[in-house]
Amino acid sequence: MKLAGRVAVITGGGSGIGLATARRFAREGARLALVDRDAAALAEAAATLQAMGQAMGQATGAEVMTFASDVGAPGAAEADAAAVLARWGRIDVLMTAAGFSCGGTVLTTAVEDWDAVLRANLGGTWLWARAVLPAMRRQGGGSIITVASQLARAGGRGNSAYIAAKGAILSLTRTMALDFAAEGIRVNAILPGAIETPMLARSFARHPDPAVPRAASIARHPLGRLGRPEEVAEAALFLAGEGSSFTTGSEILVDGGWLAG
Ligand SMILES: NC(=O)c1ccc[n+]([C@@H]2O[C@H](COP(=O)([O-])OP(=O)(O)OC[C@H]3O[C@@H](n4cnc5c(N)ncnc54)[C@H](O)[C@@H]3O)[C@@H](O)[C@H]2O)c1
Repeated sequence: MKLAGRVAVITGGGSGIGLATARRFAREGARLALVDRDAAALAEAAATLQAMGQAMGQATGAEVMTFASDVGAPGAAEADAAAVLARWGRIDVLMTAAGFSCGGTVLTTAVEDWDAVLRANLGGTWLWARAVLPAMRRQGGGSIITVASQLARAGGRGNSAYIAAKGAILSLTRTMALDFAAEGIRVNAILPGAIETPMLARSFARHPDPAVPRAASIARHPLGRLGRPEEVAEAALFLAGEGSSFTTGSEILVDGGWLAG
């Protein structure tokens, strides 16, 4: 098992890409701390992981802690990370998958929505990195996996706050990689294309006929389909484990070829 004994924190672990990654990491023996503002989704995720663990022959199921927190709330990440450290004594992996988009150009986005999107996507990444880095330093290493988007590189219409936040996450990823490389801490970004999750469904639902943006999105991916959260989880597993020991400051595309042309 590639993550046996490792402790991984996954924000946004209650749904979509974060949840698929939690399931993948659990199959590799990781202990998991899931953070999500949706308490009901978290409880369901934890139950699924426990059942998975039991099916794999672990008497008590997978080891899971859950934190029903807003990743952008000041002090929340520190408090949650302290609880993880109190129980397991280490944090080896952080994946910052919590995020959402609101849609809108600069002119049609409310200032409150701009603040909320920046706070969750970018602020949540920065605050959670800040919360785990001291422990990773003490341990002499760790892996931080940020979640951006193919749109951070390609651009896109009508999603100004989200795309600005995802672009900043790429810059933050590189600067953190440089700041902490000497201490064995690797920081890399995943750029998913359109992935079949509740967030993507909500984004399509902003159109009067969701089938229209869905068909356009499928056509925009050279592989001719949308991605699955499990496909992003495979990239996260690579970045979390020893297989990526010489990889830092990088961007892994899981975008069905979107950025190729
Ligand atoms: N699905 C896609 O097409 C796609 C494409 C590119 C990037 N992404 C990114 O992948 C990540 C995961 O997205 P997903 O598609 O799995 O979405 P999702 O909505 O299925 O899951 C995101 C989870 O994050 C949680 N969350 C949102 N804001 C939060 C906050 N402030 N505090 C705590 N939890 C919060 C939600 O409750 C939800 O459970 C996001 O960062 C998203 O921007 C998604």
